Amino acid sequence: MSRTFEVFTLFPQAVDAFVGAGLLGKAVEKGLVSVHCTNYRDFTSDRHRTVDDTPFGGGAGMVIKPEPVVAAMEHVAAERGPFHRVLLTPSAPRFDQRAAVRLAGKPRIGLLCGRYEGIDDRVREHFVDECFSIGDYVLGGGEVAALVVIEAVSRLAEGVLGNPESVQEESFSHGALGPMLEHPQYTRPPVFREHVVPGILLRGHHGEVEQWRLAKALERTHAVRADLRPAVRMPTTPVHLCIDPATIDDLSAFLGLASRHGVAAVHLLNAKPPVLESWKRIAPGSLEVHAFRSRRDLLRLLRRRSGGDPWWVDLQAASTAQPAAFGRGAALWDYFRLRAGADPAALVIAVHAPGGACELLQGGAHAVALIAPFPPSGDHAPNEKTGEEGLASPAVIADASRPPSRLCPWVDRALTELLT
Ligand code: 6GU
Repeated sequence: MSRTFEVFTLFPQAVDAFVGAGLLGKAVEKGLVSVHCTNYRDFTSDRHRTVDDTPFGGGAGMVIKPEPVVAAMEHVAAERGPFHRVLLTPSAPRFDQRAAVRLAGKPRIGLLCGRYEGIDDRVREHFVDECFSIGDYVLGGGEVAALVVIEAVSRLAEGVLGNPESVQEESFSHGALGPMLEHPQYTRPPVFREHVVPGILLRGHHGEVEQWRLAKALERTHAVRADLRPAVRMPTTPVHLCIDPATIDDLSAFLGLASRHGVAAVHLLNAKPPVLESWKRIAPGSLEVHAFRSRRDLLRLLRRRSGGDPWWVDLQAASTAQPAAFGRGAALWDYFRLRAGADPAALVIAVHAPGGACELLQGGAHAVALIAPFPPSGDHAPNEKTGEEGLASPAVIADASRPPSRLCPWVDRALTELLT
């Protein structure tokens, strides 16, 4: 389908200049897209070709009169056929990829650009189909906004973009979780001024690359555009904490935190009977406390109880700082869901909070959540030099800006962020 944009403006040269260039210019040459500009000024009836006037009720600036605007639209409709009428104004719903996809279904689109303080509002009320703003800032006029719409809509058409697949994968594509930002992209050289490309991309294992890209897209979206994510529904998956009791010195604070966040059970590594008893005594009624001998034992138990493979989150102190990644539990859950296709049967959060970890944090280290599908294997520690992940995708979930208290604060914060 060829697509036509009818642009109504006081500055047709500005629009024409842009439309002639680049991929859009090529699409116009090929006849895939056409852009016609119509000047409101050609539809005035007075000697001075007046398009604007002072606002009723007073105030600064000038308002575009309704007559030339409506006359221009009617003339074009009579000459070349009707079109979907869009008014560009900052006082409108935001133009986004979803709107672009919707407009791409229309063969003829009229774009009305305002200038000065806008167009007489009767045009919006009675003569257009919808309005768009391109963002929360004010431009001198709607021409740049019209070009934004033309470019975003045109490139969705077959043959306008070089590679139709890039339409599928790019930022703001609507995945299972709604729109997401794109993962980072790199090209040669692999080392540029000592800055390396993540090794996982260089190794080129397709499955690993896909997982990495998914994790990065989620990290980015949650870090910089959390608003894009639809309302978060935390899973009802039972959460199990797995911990070395020797690393916790404020027992009641820890148990309080766990029970506040609906943790199903706390599993103590190698707890002697008296230690297990004291934990059980203090634990609130709803919180189970068990002892286990090895990760393998615990996983076996959970698998038997939940009928599926549990997922494992390792909270560890690490000395490499990475940009905020799964800073919110929600991002981690998104990752789990996209990777597993569903909520995990059970989730284990292993808290490695020995005194040493707190010391590391005091020394300026960051806490990381290392996430891996069961069974956790291999060395998860990020590569010190490149910050690159081990097998799974580690993520900084807390920083060490606050000194540890008795309940190691990064554990507190990490758990809170994972569980809420
Ligand atoms: Cl559509 N017009 C103007 N003048 N300013 C804007 C805009 C439109 N969208 C964001 N700012």
